[in-house]
Amino acid sequence: MKHLIAPSVLAANYRNLQADFDMVNRSEADWYHVDVMDGRFVPNISFGMFIVEFMKKMATKPLDVHLMILEPEKYIEDFRKAGAEVITVHYEACPHLHRTIQQIKETGAKAGVALNPHTPVSLLSEVIEDLDMVLLMSVNPGFGGQKFIYNTIPKIQQLREMITTKNTSTLIEIDGGVGLQNAEEILRAGANVLVAGSSVFGSANPSETIAKLKAIGKDEVWV
Ligand code: DX5
Ligand code: ZN
Repeated sequence: MKHLIAPSVLAANYRNLQADFDMVNRSEADWYHVDVMDGRFVPNISFGMFIVEFMKKMATKPLDVHLMILEPEKYIEDFRKAGAEVITVHYEACPHLHRTIQQIKETGAKAGVALNPHTPVSLLSEVIEDLDMVLLMSVNPGFGGQKFIYNTIPKIQQLREMITTKNTSTLIEIDGGVGLQNAEEILRAGANVLVAGSSVFGSANPSETIAKLKAIGKDEVWV
């Protein structure tokens, strides 16, 4: 399958969000990556469902909502109502992960689980069949514009192996420090979805950067 590009709106211009949404709507991007932070699970606060609802009104592409919050089970229905098509919770924030995954699916959203850089992929072996997506954090969550942690590459390979062995169609999304300089290596390791915040919105021509990220490996199928 052709990989997906999900620009992270955390890096957009909040004085004129509509302009950035218009750009992404017209671009070759596939999804919007939407980072929700609570100042508890991560040391930063972004925005909640009220803002996601407005993003939904501006977006013509699916919202991929990444919940970096404690007790995400309390808010899953709210984010679904606000317009999330994909809802991702953190492994580290879910003592009853199996139940939380089912809860996401019951809302009709696609279910994702995110792993922090220190969390091994093997911890997902008992739930992988239930997951539409695994998000591997390639920076410590909380802020945009950080440097890609290289150990993510072997984690992608391990996860790809697990998905192949279990014969599931789970997507692998990579989040943090992704740009034109490392996207090809990430895709070759087995990823399907690239989140890109500062490398897109901080570039001179964001829609061209999206097109370039989308065009990588055009004629090759890696996974
Ligand atoms: C980090 C967020 C990322 C962030 C990525 O906590 O989960 O989605 O927006 O930003 P860049 O692409 O700038 O590293
Ligand atoms: Zn994210």
